[in-house]
Amino acid sequence: SPSAPSPAPLPKAELHLHIEGTLEPGLAFALARRNGIELPYADEDVLRRAYSFADLQSFLNLYYALMAVLRTEDDFADLAHAYLARAKEQGVRHAEIFFDPQAHTARGVPIGTVIDGLARALDAAEETYGISTRLIMCFLRDESAESALATFEAARPHLDRITAVGLDSAEVGHPPSKFREVFARAREAGLKCVAHAGEEGPPAYVWEALDVLGVDRIDHGVRSMEDPRLVARLVADQVPLTVCPLSNVRLRVIDDLADHPLPAMLDAGLLVTVNSDDPSYFGGYADDNFRAVRDALGLDQETLRTLARNSFRASFLDEAVRERYL
Ligand code: HPA
Ligand code: ZN
Repeated sequence: SPSAPSPAPLPKAELHLHIEGTLEPGLAFALARRNGIELPYADEDVLRRAYSFADLQSFLNLYYALMAVLRTEDDFADLAHAYLARAKEQGVRHAEIFFDPQAHTARGVPIGTVIDGLARALDAAEETYGISTRLIMCFLRDESAESALATFEAARPHLDRITAVGLDSAEVGHPPSKFREVFARAREAGLKCVAHAGEEGPPAYVWEALDVLGVDRIDHGVRSMEDPRLVARLVADQVPLTVCPLSNVRLRVIDDLADHPLPAMLDAGLLVTVNSDDPSYFGGYADDNFRAVRDALGLDQETLRTLARNSFRASFLDEAVRERYL
């Protein structure tokens, strides 16, 4: 007999998604051709075989190298459009999307080209797919504090398109406190703040993100579970954690999905969400992550609904819009 049709994916918000991490091999080769760039891979299959990572840094090396194909406003619009088409199929109703301006300005691509291209695709997606979106501008923590400040100033004319600032790239050795000043400037400008912390870095980096940067959410934060006082703080303040299960396995933050702390995090009363991080590299988009944790951890439908509801609670949507999803 024919297999049962798969149920419609739960409506959800995606809150931890690097737009550059949605670059699929097919689009990478298409953009390389369009821009006359030679990629150091014979074809898509050879490239895909390079997607085997020992840790965060080994992923970042490939992630930054492939960005060479992103040069024009159209490239950024095509990239975001391709993600939003996938997101729609995965039940995503709202997406808060990271981008890494320094990874592009360092190659001579103006920040306005990046933001205008992304914004064009986001506006179209609202029309075509009914997906609402926000942009989160991330600073590369393995670059200097001065470079982050210069990036923030270069972005000032575009701040009407930007909801929040974030902090990403190689974590260990680059604590949040290094970026105290640029986050203070962002808050003064009325932006929300988030930071990757407690992915490879220690719980102390999560404390700093909260107490020095004043973040509204923690990205990843899985290592918070090592510090009971920190868990108590995150629970008391209901600070959202944007957890990325497939990413954690691929980057070897967690050995096996069956050992993921997600159920313990939920049991502790943390406001946890499930997200895809860099879906092209880590083997799954938003609902793929939901189905992976369901299967590996035996989560029931009520728990999956809680995770989906949490994604809207943790979002930067206006209260009235958020309520409609809860
Ligand atoms: N961690 C840190 N930086 C990143 C990631 C991540 O998972 N993805 C893209 N940049
Ligand atoms: Zn991330």
